[in-house]
Amino acid sequence: MGKKIGIVALTLYLCITFALSEYYSKTLPFSPKQQVVTNLHFFFHDTLTGRSPSAVLIAKSNHTGDDSSSPSPFGSLFAIDDPLTLGHDPKSEQIGNARGMYVSSGKHDPTLTMYVDFGFTSGQFNGSSFTVFSRNTIREKERELAVVGGRGRFRMATGVAQLNTYSVNLINGSRLYSWANQLEESGKEKVTNLQFYFHDTLSGKNPTAVKVAQAADTNKSLTLFGATFMVDDALTETADPKSKLVGRAQGLYGSSCKEEIGLIMAMSFSFLDGPYKDSTISMIGKNSVMNPIREMPIVGGTGIFRMARGYAIAKTNWFDPTTGDAIVGYNVTVHH
Ligand SMILES: *[C@@H]1O[C@H](CO)[C@@H](O)[C@H](O)[C@H]1NC(C)=O
Ligand SMILES: *[C@@H]1O[C@H](CO)[C@@H](O)[C@H](O)[C@H]1NC(C)=O
Ligand SMILES: *[C@@H]1O[C@H](CO)[C@@H](O)[C@H](O)[C@H]1NC(C)=O
Ligand SMILES: *[C@@H]1O[C@H](CO)[C@@H](O)[C@H](O)[C@H]1NC(C)=O
Ligand SMILES: *[C@@H]1O[C@H](CO)[C@@H](O)[C@H](O)[C@H]1NC(C)=O
Repeated sequence: MGKKIGIVALTLYLCITFALSEYYSKTLPFSPKQQVVTNLHFFFHDTLTGRSPSAVLIAKSNHTGDDSSSPSPFGSLFAIDDPLTLGHDPKSEQIGNARGMYVSSGKHDPTLTMYVDFGFTSGQFNGSSFTVFSRNTIREKERELAVVGGRGRFRMATGVAQLNTYSVNLINGSRLYSWANQLEESGKEKVTNLQFYFHDTLSGKNPTAVKVAQAADTNKSLTLFGATFMVDDALTETADPKSKLVGRAQGLYGSSCKEEIGLIMAMSFSFLDGPYKDSTISMIGKNSVMNPIREMPIVGGTGIFRMARGYAIAKTNWFDPTTGDAIVGYNVTVHH
């Protein structure tokens, strides 16, 4: 009896200590499990029209093309709940859903940036999902998307999704993709350093960052809390906007801080030149833009940067407070 009370008291004491201590544990060594590789094949049905579309427009910018006949011009933001099926026939067995959003983030090409959870509802992966955060150049027949994480059996997954457009209906905008998703084993790790300048232009006739949505009180907020922008920003070799174009940053940023000027950045950097041509990296994290130096995580990549992890150091090179236009130097370290 006495022993039992002792144990209860000790447990309580531990609970209380735990409740009063820091929010983090001691950092302990970690030995990763043997990595496993899984291949998944399925079809993704993205339907923009009809009575029950699976992709719906939720916001667009005031600049979004009246001139364009595309169902998804630059500056449109969509929410999706797209069925995943075993066969290409929409009536074939449904094995899951792709839920999240994508944005039309290409000013010059029909390109999407996708933020999507692929969840499975049957078989051994029922209840598991993986997350795609990547650029998707929809005009190319075959492309690769970065898989940056997962749930359930796909916890801590990294990999790539390769997809083919199976059919596209340009009139009604319906798209059907075939996916072969690979959650890969990593080989020997390499490290690459990339340096470039990021040109964010909000002003003028040809902005590369456009506001797509804001909250009712955004204009009353000194930090523009709630304002959400879509970007297709040039990445150049030097701070001079006329210097060589080395890539593009496509995706979203939004004002996510009430007390300071801070953005949540969620964009894919793609490169146009040299050994990294057509490779991409995905960056997501908070950007305290008034700090002289900021750091943001790199969570995935495609091409040479498959399964990348890393960090980006950003330093403002030039900023116009009246327009918000900025040139920012990036120094990115990528392990891949
Ligand atoms: C859209 O196009 C596809 C392919 O041609 C067709 O199967 C589908 O019925 C069309 N949907 C609507 C709502 O028109
Ligand atoms: C998937 O899991 C859910 C929740 O555990 C369960 O209700 C459902 O029956 C399962 N479906 C299949 C096809 O196994
Ligand atoms: C677009 O313009 C309308 C009217 O000028 C304005 O009310 C709305 O807030 C603007 N939308 C964005 C996203 O700036
Ligand atoms: C907020 O500001 C934007 C840009 O200055 C303007 O277009 C919009 O009409 C304003 N909205 C309200 C509700 O005042
Ligand atoms: C870029 O970052 C790397 C790694 O963090 C560092 O070694 C290098 O000095 C940085 N380069 C510049 C120009 O800041």
